Amino acid sequence: MSTQPVRGTRDLLGDDYAKCSYLNRVAFDILAAYGYQGIETPIFEHTSLFQRGLGETSDVVGKEMYTFADRGGDSLTLRPEGTAPVTRAIISAGLTQTLPQKLFYSGPMFRYERPQKGRYRQFYQLGVEYIGSAHPLADVECIALADHLLKAWGISDYQLHLNTLGDLESRQNYRQALVDYFGRYKNDLSPDSQIRLEKNPLRILDSKDANDQVLCQDAPLFDEYLTEDSRHFFDQVQNGLVTLGIDFTRNQKLVRGLDYYCHTAFEFKTNSLGAQDAILAGGRYDGLMQQLGGPVVPAVGWACGLDRLALMLTDFKTPDHLKIALIAAEEGLEPISLKFAQQLRHVCVPCEVFLKGDLSKRLKAADKAGCQVAVLLRPEEYQSNQVKIRYLQQDFSPAGDKETIVSISDLVPHLLSLKKA
Ligand code: HAM
Repeated sequence: MSTQPVRGTRDLLGDDYAKCSYLNRVAFDILAAYGYQGIETPIFEHTSLFQRGLGETSDVVGKEMYTFADRGGDSLTLRPEGTAPVTRAIISAGLTQTLPQKLFYSGPMFRYERPQKGRYRQFYQLGVEYIGSAHPLADVECIALADHLLKAWGISDYQLHLNTLGDLESRQNYRQALVDYFGRYKNDLSPDSQIRLEKNPLRILDSKDANDQVLCQDAPLFDEYLTEDSRHFFDQVQNGLVTLGIDFTRNQKLVRGLDYYCHTAFEFKTNSLGAQDAILAGGRYDGLMQQLGGPVVPAVGWACGLDRLALMLTDFKTPDHLKIALIAAEEGLEPISLKFAQQLRHVCVPCEVFLKGDLSKRLKAADKAGCQVAVLLRPEEYQSNQVKIRYLQQDFSPAGDKETIVSISDLVPHLLSLKKA
């Protein structure tokens, strides 16, 4: 049996774990300020949810899903993304009567992709779905939230790429133009793109094949095929971003990898991660709810890759929390040291009891464990209801001395008042 995690998965330990929880912690307060509430959907769903929701021709459905038959013979899939599950949850909870709904989620997603730096088979997404608003300013607010969060996390190396995929009529017009154009080079296209030409020519623009990319350079641009309504919608999104002072680059080749998008599509990209440069991405998906059997409900949202964002937190340091050592200097006082530790833990002061070896061994162990302050229990002070405090790190000593004696009744307030100088 191997003790290694499955290829493309990893254990989150130490700093990796701390970075991920930092990203979530900072996000939760900001999400609340924008009116979002949390939702957790199951890790696995009926396979048909993703087949219908994300599109049969998307790479995710075609090549990347973890699909299995359960013991009852149902076809289930580990969720590769959160938008289709959240939309399904809105329908099944009957929430289409109480719109808009602003929901966020954070958790693992699964895609069978080739693992590399920033790309995993189990990865973590934090995402938001603003369901029930057709207004272009909902798109602007969503993008502003993304920009706000990235800045709050201390991430600055990114650019916002923006495009429109228009309404259905625009996409049908554009689709025909692409079929006409790529049809002329059918035999030069990669095998995958030859299939895309039949099923979803827009996806050819997203091809990673070098030869396809050369052909894409002269492909018709979406703008020429946008209806008046779609153009007007996109103008309002762009004007809104300008009003809020959010920089963006228009990228007419940005088509997104999932089929449910219409109108606004966007990706925040970075230069600091190599090939896996998309850190946050999303767009409008007005047709998804109906596609899944619900009413027509407009929606917009995005998800970011927490694994990728964690890779960008290069200056991250776990905060220097005060940690107290409880040390009995003589045998017999250990239960009292545990009793004091319990009192401190009840007021949420991190502390550790050191029980192994004599006093000097206990002090060494406390130092090694990163404790800045030790509470020493010695019979001479304890008899008169006092304890000795030793400052293992001088910058935690309020008066600069190495040791001090405090009465037991003052112990908790004294320790709570300690701060790094
Ligand atoms: P997506 O572009 O497929 O969109 O994924 C969003 C983000 O998840 C990516 O930009 C990337 O940061 C991260 N990501 C994707 N795949 C991996 C991977 N294999 N390893 C590490 N990170 C990855 C969606 O999933 C849509 N549901 C977003 C959305 C929400 N659209 C509307 N609402």
